[in-house]
Amino acid sequence: MKTNRRDFLRTTSLAATAMGISGPLKASSFMGAPSDKLNVALIGVRNMGFGILERHLETGKVNCIGLCDVDKNLLEKRGQDVMKATGQKPKLYGDFRNLLENRDLDAVIIGTPDHWHCLQTVYACEAGKDVYVEKPMANSIAECDIMVRAAKKYNRIVQVGQQQRSGAGWQAVNRIIREGKIGKLRKVNIWGNFNYGVGQPKQPDQSVPEGVDFDMWLGPAPLRPFNPARFHGSWRMFWDHGGGLVTDWGVHLIDMAFWAKDLVVPPEITMASGGNLSFENNDHETFDTMSVIWQHKDFMVTWEHTAGTQSGPWNKNYGLAFIGDLATVVVNREGYKVIPEWDGNKKENKAEPLEVAMRGENHGEHVADFIDCVKSRKTPACTPEKGRAVAVAAHAANIAVRTGENKLIWDEKSSRFSNSEKANQMVVPVYRNPWTLPVI
Ligand SMILES: NC(=O)c1ccc[n+]([C@@H]2O[C@H](COP(=O)([O-])OP(=O)(O)OC[C@H]3O[C@@H](n4cnc5c(N)ncnc54)[C@H](O)[C@@H]3O)[C@@H](O)[C@H]2O)c1
Repeated sequence: MKTNRRDFLRTTSLAATAMGISGPLKASSFMGAPSDKLNVALIGVRNMGFGILERHLETGKVNCIGLCDVDKNLLEKRGQDVMKATGQKPKLYGDFRNLLENRDLDAVIIGTPDHWHCLQTVYACEAGKDVYVEKPMANSIAECDIMVRAAKKYNRIVQVGQQQRSGAGWQAVNRIIREGKIGKLRKVNIWGNFNYGVGQPKQPDQSVPEGVDFDMWLGPAPLRPFNPARFHGSWRMFWDHGGGLVTDWGVHLIDMAFWAKDLVVPPEITMASGGNLSFENNDHETFDTMSVIWQHKDFMVTWEHTAGTQSGPWNKNYGLAFIGDLATVVVNREGYKVIPEWDGNKKENKAEPLEVAMRGENHGEHVADFIDCVKSRKTPACTPEKGRAVAVAAHAANIAVRTGENKLIWDEKSSRFSNSEKANQMVVPVYRNPWTLPVI
């Protein structure tokens, strides 16, 4: 039998492990030649996770060897989809822990609801797999901290799914700001108005659908009856599973503001107000209306949303306005525009006006970066530290409103708020038995 480099290294590594030798040859890491295909698997197959898997398959650089989901109906269907696309049938799993035991697996994509991101990422890192985990990094501040530590401890490549970091248009905007073309950046206004932010119409609790392991869907989240209005897709409007628009869409956009100043720690001050002021017949806990200010040392970032509306400033339902002394850049996934200030004395623009269209999503580029980094062990575009900074900022805003504290001061050293014990009660989630918060 012909042995390729990957097989040779795996065998050598297994032998080394059996002999009690620990070192760089880990049995489950990618150890092939750069031209070898990665073996990947997907946990959470319904929506975004599958989209990310498709972007992986499109590169021609991966084999999909496993799919995992707690909804058997979706799992079977996705198994057939992969078979159609690749001619290879992935192994199907209901429990991600069994999938992670597969020694041939190099990397996993995590496309589950936010309350699962931490456990699945940490277990994958422990098993020696690299991870593409969807945003927001986790559903609580403490979980983000644990994930950062796990990636470091197990020396894993972890890419957080804030794909705008890999988009050429967003990189161009970032360059314009860094090169000082809009002058001193002092404020970034961000908004995200979406209909889905008000949840679904209320429905009575129901029995769990055939083929769904609901206990495993809930996982570490509190036990509750099954309700279709807080299940596939709509879970993001309930605190046990998500944080509403500010953690869902917000992290993508707020991340761009932090990137402009290279911030990889959360802002020191969060001020927020909000509430549920509309759509009484819809089922949701997260806020439909919200205003947030994050105060950094030398600039401010604001976030606004009115869920259930789809219009906003600059005639865009979502976007950012980077405000500098010389110009403002208004940007969303469709494009960006540099709007110069007018110099009344010189009778000229203070900056070059510019308007550039963008291509929408950047998942493909972000996935390509991940695959590259898994092979080269280079640092990915959105590290756990970057994913954490923005997730903590978004969670801090929700906590400020939920506790009624409205102004919270962040202490990065202790990863806690320095002015509110009430807020600190919400930093660490309570896991439901038998799941326990990983200790790293
Ligand atoms: N980067 C982006 O642009 C983007 C866009 C949409 C969603 N997302 C993120 O992707 C994640 C998934 O969102 P979605 O819209 O696809 O949600 P979804 O509800 O449509 O899909 C989640 C899937 O995970 C499965 N699942 C739940 N618990 C599981 C478990 N223990 N093991 C295996 N599978 C499990 C569900 O059955 C479902 O198939 C979220 O974190 C979301 O924020 C990112």
